[in-house]
Amino acid sequence: MEPHLPPSGSALSAPDDVPFKAIVEQSLVGVYVIQDEVVQYANAVFAGLTGHTPEEIVGMHIRDLTPPWRSEDNLQRIRQRVSGEIPSMRFRTQGWHRDGYPVDVEVHGSRVIFRGRPAVAGVAISIADNVRFEQDLSHSREQLRALAASINEDREKQRHLIARELHDVLGGILTSIKLDASRIRRRLERDENREIADGIVDLAREAIDAVRQISESLHPSLLDHLGLVAAVRRQLGTFAERHGIECRIDATESPLPVGPARGIAAYRIIQEALTNIARHAGATRVHVAIRLDGPVLHVAVADNGSGITPAELERPSIGLVGMRERARDAGGHLEISPGLDGGTVLRLVLPPDGGAGRAP
Ligand SMILES: Nc1ncnc2c1ncn2[C@@H]1O[C@H](COP(=O)(O)OP(=O)(O)OP(=O)(O)O)[C@@H](O)[C@H]1O
Ligand SMILES: [Mg+2]
Repeated sequence: MEPHLPPSGSALSAPDDVPFKAIVEQSLVGVYVIQDEVVQYANAVFAGLTGHTPEEIVGMHIRDLTPPWRSEDNLQRIRQRVSGEIPSMRFRTQGWHRDGYPVDVEVHGSRVIFRGRPAVAGVAISIADNVRFEQDLSHSREQLRALAASINEDREKQRHLIARELHDVLGGILTSIKLDASRIRRRLERDENREIADGIVDLAREAIDAVRQISESLHPSLLDHLGLVAAVRRQLGTFAERHGIECRIDATESPLPVGPARGIAAYRIIQEALTNIARHAGATRVHVAIRLDGPVLHVAVADNGSGITPAELERPSIGLVGMRERARDAGGHLEISPGLDGGTVLRLVLPPDGGAGRAP
C-alpha cells in the first residue's frame, strides 16, 4: 500500500477518522493547550503533574502553576512562541504542585492556532526521576573524586614515611654494619677471613644502595631538597638509561618555586607518562618541558611513538584517570592529544599550591 505522504512543505495532516480525542486522553504524557497564559485544555496526565484534575486546571493561569522563581521565564517562553519569535521549544522547567512544592518537567510546545487565535500546544513529562538520578550521580562523582584525592594524599604520606624510615633506620643500621665489618677486616690476619669480611662489606654496600633506591622510588628526596626540575632530570636520566630512549628536558636551571603538593603532583604525572611511553609508545625520543608562566606551572611531555587513539583516551583506565585526578586535585588540568609530528603530547597546567591566584 502506498504510504499517505503530504506534499512537501505542507503541514502533516492525518486522516479524518483518527480518534485523536481517545489518543490524547489516554496518552502517557501530559498534553496541554495554553492561550492568553491560561490553560485551555489539559489531559489527565498534564493536570496530574501539578496534582490537579483536568476540570480544575482548565482556566488556571500559568503563574499559579509554576514556582515563583520560574514564572517569568515560563511566561516569557510562552510569549515567544505565541508571537512566532521562536515557534517551537523543548526545555526543562518546573511546575508548582498544589501541595506547595516544585515538580521537574520537560515540555515541548509549539505555536498553533486555537479558536482562531495563536496559542501554545504541546506535551510534558515528569523528569523527577531523571533529576534525582542526575543529582545522585553528580553527588557520587563528587564523593568518588574526594575519595580518590584522599587516597592519593594518604598514599603519598605513607610513601614519604616509609621512604624516610627505610633511609634513616635501615640505611643507618647497614652503614654501621659496613663500618664494623671494615674494622674487623683490618684486624684479621688470615687471608680467607679477610675475604669473608670483604664479602660482608660489599653486601652491606649493595644493601645500602638498594635501600637508597627503594627509598628514592617511594619518595624522591631530590624533590624536597633541589626541587621539581632536578628530580625530573634525574628521573629522565634513569629512564633514558633503562629503556634506551633519548630524553631531552627544557627547564630553567634555578629551582622553580613550585611548592610540595604541586611538585609531587607534577612529578607523579610525569612518572606515569614515562611509564606509559615505555610500555605502549615504542618511542625513540622523549621531550619534557617545565616552565612557570607567572605563578602557573606548565609541563609538557611529548614522545615520537605510535600515538594514542581517541578510543584509548576515552577508555576508563587507572593510569590516565589517576593522572587526571591528580591534576584536578591540585586545581589544574591535564590534556593528552596526538603530537603534531605523530606520537603523543601530554600537557599539564597547575596553579600554585592552595589554588589559582595565590602567590607561589
Ligand atoms: N604515550 C603513549 N603512546 C601510545 N599509547 C599510549 C600512551 N600513553 C597511553 N597510551 C594508551 O592509553 C592506554 C591507557 O593508558 P593507562 O596509563 O591509563 O593504562 P595502562 O598503562 O594500560 O595501565 P595502567 O592502568 O597500569 O597505567 C594504554 O593502554 C595505551 O594503549
Ligand atoms: Mg599506564
